[in-house]
Amino acid sequence: MIDVKLAPAHRRFRADVLAGLALPRKRLPSKYFYDAAGSRLFERITELPEYYPTRTELGIMRRHADAMAARCGPDCLLIELGAGALTKVRLLLDRLDAPAGFAPVDVSGEHLREAAAVLAEDYPALAIEPVVADFTGPFQVPEAPDARKVVYFPGSTLGNFDPEEADALLRRIARLVGPGGGLLLGVDLRKDPAVLERAYDDAAGVTAAFNRNLLVRIDRELGGDFDAPSFRHVAFYDPEKSRVEMHLVTDVARRVRVGTSTFAFLPGESIHTENSHKYDVPELAARAEACGLRLDEAWTDPRDYFAVLYFTAA
Ligand code: AVJ
Repeated sequence: MIDVKLAPAHRRFRADVLAGLALPRKRLPSKYFYDAAGSRLFERITELPEYYPTRTELGIMRRHADAMAARCGPDCLLIELGAGALTKVRLLLDRLDAPAGFAPVDVSGEHLREAAAVLAEDYPALAIEPVVADFTGPFQVPEAPDARKVVYFPGSTLGNFDPEEADALLRRIARLVGPGGGLLLGVDLRKDPAVLERAYDDAAGVTAAFNRNLLVRIDRELGGDFDAPSFRHVAFYDPEKSRVEMHLVTDVARRVRVGTSTFAFLPGESIHTENSHKYDVPELAARAEACGLRLDEAWTDPRDYFAVLYFTAA
């Protein structure tokens, strides 16, 4: 009865949580990490000594922003997917030749509008059109008939998608930008598992708090009794699947209530909360090619930890 009064985003969250917890191997979608508290925790993660991706990608962007902007070309409509704080994109915006506009896409409307307002102060001549949407579903971008569309998808967010989902997303991006359009993609690369595992299980425990915040959020928003501190943060690299997995583990048998549903946990049982895939450039290029995106140029850092890739849609 109460259902009809709840916002669609809330109903979706509840449906996804209940479905994930009912699976034989419990799972929760990582996109729900990013409420206000989760977004703040993620910002803190990006500043941790162990978490190399953000600063490495920023370094690549700083060194090669001219070449990247040249690839985007003049009159481009830049579309950023999962736009967070809108920091990295400034390096591009500073160098684009007469951009037709900038459309940051993000689920968090409040966060997005704030970030867009701050950006607008520094780029008064730029047509900024924030799009509040979950980019894993359909969304509308502003009309710009004469502009070349380029999607900017940084942060290795692609890595959160399973290979089939990632391929589907790459195909949708190719379709969205159309023939001749572009994709500027940031991806984390394969490396020493010890480096990866430290990056996802930092000494200060910020990543653990980020992971547990998902349960805090469920308890608050969906009427749950997880008691987040009683779940252990676990992160490991699976070389076969080429991904870091994050889990929340209970050491004791438990029953957890979410709204009117209950879920039983065996001792040692986990909830799988995130996959973070690590890539190999030639392999990813081959997969993207099959999705209608041809690799034009790849930029990396001296350690080959991270890559920023420019693709053109066929
Ligand atoms: C924002 C998806 C790129 O996978 O590295 C950071 C999220 N998870 N620490 C990542 C995250 C744990 C992050 N992405």
